[in-house]
Amino acid sequence: MMSLPPGFLDELRTRLSLGQVVGRKVMWDPRKSNQGKGDLWAPCPFHQEKTASFHVDDRKGFYYCFGCHAKGDAINFVIETENVSFIEAVKILADEAGMPMPERDPRAQEKADLRSELTDVMEQAVQWHKLQLKTAAAGPARDYLETRGLSPDAIARWEIGFAPERGGVMAQLTGKGVAQEKVIAAGLAAESDRGGSPYDRFRNRIMFPIRDGRGKAIGFGGRAMDPNHPAKYYNSPETPLFDKGRSLYNHAPAREAAGKGQPLIVAEGYMDVIALSEAGFQATVAPLGTAITEDQLRLLWRISPEPIIALDGDTAGLRAAMRMIDIALPLLEAGQSLRFALMPEGLDPDDLIKQQGRQAMQGLIDAAIPMVQLLWQRETDGKVFDSPERKAALDKALRDKIKLIKDPSIRSHYGQAIKDMRWELFRARKPNPAQTQKRQTRGGPATWRQSKAPLASNKSSMLGAGAAKTDHMLESAILATLIATPAVVDAFEVQIDQMDCQDPDHAVLRDAVLRLSGAQDIREALNKSVGIAPLENLMAQPHVKIHPAVRRAGDLEFATACLTTDFKRLFAQRSYGKELDEGMDELQGQADESLTWRLAQAARMMDTSVREAQDETTDFEKADNGTMLNKEEKSAFDQLLETIKAGKPTK
Ligand code: UTP
Ligand code: MN
Repeated sequence: MMSLPPGFLDELRTRLSLGQVVGRKVMWDPRKSNQGKGDLWAPCPFHQEKTASFHVDDRKGFYYCFGCHAKGDAINFVIETENVSFIEAVKILADEAGMPMPERDPRAQEKADLRSELTDVMEQAVQWHKLQLKTAAAGPARDYLETRGLSPDAIARWEIGFAPERGGVMAQLTGKGVAQEKVIAAGLAAESDRGGSPYDRFRNRIMFPIRDGRGKAIGFGGRAMDPNHPAKYYNSPETPLFDKGRSLYNHAPAREAAGKGQPLIVAEGYMDVIALSEAGFQATVAPLGTAITEDQLRLLWRISPEPIIALDGDTAGLRAAMRMIDIALPLLEAGQSLRFALMPEGLDPDDLIKQQGRQAMQGLIDAAIPMVQLLWQRETDGKVFDSPERKAALDKALRDKIKLIKDPSIRSHYGQAIKDMRWELFRARKPNPAQTQKRQTRGGPATWRQSKAPLASNKSSMLGAGAAKTDHMLESAILATLIATPAVVDAFEVQIDQMDCQDPDHAVLRDAVLRLSGAQDIREALNKSVGIAPLENLMAQPHVKIHPAVRRAGDLEFATACLTTDFKRLFAQRSYGKELDEGMDELQGQADESLTWRLAQAARMMDTSVREAQDETTDFEKADNGTMLNKEEKSAFDQLLETIKAGKPTK
């Protein structure tokens, strides 16, 4: 890397106004900001929000977002927003501040020169291979590409070429005056072991050029046409240009498309990227013949906070996903995660699009599941948890994964999400038709997804059934209130954000309400943004229809009163769930019939008291005793739990 003289960066920082640098990317909130004091506020450019929680201290030259905790100075800001390297950011800012960049040190200069020479060699190779595809020798290659459904246009767009069996790129380039060792250094040819002359690495292969984030050719993937060839693909070796673990196929076009709002998709192979892009999913990338690395994940997150991993529908695909989760977990930060789109068994995205069309692919992308759910699914699908030992094994497996998360707040969210799912699992439950349907695809889902829903033993099936039900009612009451009187949304932003909805429709509405509360007509905006189903389903719930806050739409004070009570209840209830769960965790290994029975009693009692509380306060106009009741229930429940913990299980 280029070294900067001491003091250069300090000088740069003092010459710059961070407010000015940031000001090009955000709209300051005039009410919250104090320009004179260099105290500036805006909606955060790093995460989605309506309120201004992004703060710039222009005098100190630092920014901090109270929402997503993004922080840094002008250089960090440029790195993040322009997606450039440190030194490039310094260059951009130095230019702006009128500071000349210092000279490069000679060794760095040498390296840069070599790289630019090799880039040149690679570009010549790309062009030459393209021409070869038009020759007679490439007839079978052209036929092959046709059978793969690639039009001449697509072939041109992807710069697909051909490496002939004989008279390859080495002869061609040296003939043009390129030094032999440069062709070797570019990874196009290799020294022969037996001391003979160097040989072309790619022979009789279809050539896929690989370009870096700025469009420079850095490597090739070469595909054999013979299905029985032992190496289907050869890829360029590591060279000064080609760092496989830090490059992505189709990086630059994908970044551009993602910038225009396309979902960022990660596929497994070259052909998948091409098929997806040609079908309209232009923000697609793939790693280069290796498993995804940490560096590649970071690259992805620079492009999009939540890339969608499109996995082949086979066990190898699932294994790859699990490896990826293991790499991703320690790196998770606010606003950066992964989703997984699960292909039908035996299909990759290329096959799926060919067999079932782009709509099928779109469906799978829309139904992509969050990482935590895939973790859960993998541990539970098709398994039966009918003994304490099995439950304990499940808990241990999941706990071990969650431990990998470094960010404490994300770790606790994952823990909570897992507990919620555990809660759902260990109470008998009819499968949620919305969810099952969502995951179905015409090709038949992959086995590990298709497997039957996990079965909880019926011993514990009573646990929590009532609580979950009232949770659902509270969620819908809250959402209905917010939609009836969207002006209250800002005041309850934190609570809304913390509401872990059980019902997927509710979760969708929760997020949309946060985004759209400022809309002229919120119902219309919701329908447009998430489709009419979630709102329709919400409003069709009998208790929502008659909810007083819905009838008194627009009554700010009333809505505030309702929400205060409902959120208190919802969160109080969730903490019961946690306690009950923890009680179970502690008792694992010694649980037996009588213990399970007593826990079930506890759950049933809690259920009844919550329901009574609910009934008593359905008249929302005098509704503020919710907390009182909750306290009583809580102490009753605490007592019961104590008794259970103290009591020795009887055999
Ligand atoms: P796939 O076998 O899924 O390849 O391997 P693909 O891109 O879908 O190609 P088609 O459809 O069979 O033509 C996924 C990726 O793994 C790497 C390549 O990067 C490939 O795109 N790979 C695969 C290799 O590096 N070498 C191989 O022999 C096979
Ligand atoms: Mn394929």
